Amino acid sequence: MEQQPIISIQNVSMRFNLAKEKHESLKEYFIALAHGGVRFDEFYALKDVSFDIMPGDFYGLIGLNGSGKSTLLKIISGVYKPSQGKVTVRGTIAPLIELGAGFDMDLTARENIYLNGAVLGYTPKYIRSKFDEIVDFSELQDFLDVPLKNYSSGMVARLAFAVATITKPDILIADEILSVGDFLFQQKCEKRMAELMGGGTTVILVSHSIEQIERMCNKAAWLDHGVLRRNGDAGPITAEYRKFQKT
Ligand SMILES: Nc1ncnc2c1ncn2[C@@H]1O[C@H](COP(=O)(O)OP(=O)(O)O)[C@@H](O)[C@H]1O
Ligand SMILES: [Mg+2]
Repeated sequence: MEQQPIISIQNVSMRFNLAKEKHESLKEYFIALAHGGVRFDEFYALKDVSFDIMPGDFYGLIGLNGSGKSTLLKIISGVYKPSQGKVTVRGTIAPLIELGAGFDMDLTARENIYLNGAVLGYTPKYIRSKFDEIVDFSELQDFLDVPLKNYSSGMVARLAFAVATITKPDILIADEILSVGDFLFQQKCEKRMAELMGGGTTVILVSHSIEQIERMCNKAAWLDHGVLRRNGDAGPITAEYRKFQKT
């Protein structure tokens, strides 16, 4: 029997409405709205994107800033509903899509571990049983009772990655999460992702580092102004992307 894709992206388009004029205040905006004077520009962040991700794939998503990578990951994670098309996901997702999403910056790291764990669907009892492992992985032992607003972005990333990967999700989504950590932490995350892969987890990775995509991913998809330019085996695609970046 043929294997089913774990994620199937079918003809997905995403339209954002952008107000055309700048209004000085919210009041002015609503007055204009009431008079039918607000015009919107339609802007497509994704245009008819289709591809499948198979179980166990390590998929790299590449493309310049603004090409639609984060938008696609948010649609896959269920944060956005696509304007057209559909995405079918067959498994559980641990999304690391926006740094600090699921965290409360006024709470301490200790409190946030429980909060973020709950957001990801874990019970307090389960989180308690994994607490030491999370702290150990994130190396934040000495900062557990410090509010997150005093953390560096690298520290927040360490905590987010540690919480999201304590269970084995079917799908791990990591959107630029590794670019904020230091080198040692990046290596640690790569190791953890490789372990998850060994256990059958499918990973989708967005990274500024094309080297990292080359090193870790077997497959790649290249987005260009919201259009899927190429997808398939990572090697030839990253090679072409490198040339494109230089031009
Ligand atoms: N909520 C939104 N409202 C309006 N435009 C958005 C929104 N989110 C993203 N965009 C726009 O969509 C395009 C793609 O953004 P994004 O998916 O974040 O790209 P990438 O992650 O590849 O840098 C960008 O032009 C961005 O400004
Ligand atoms: Mg992005």
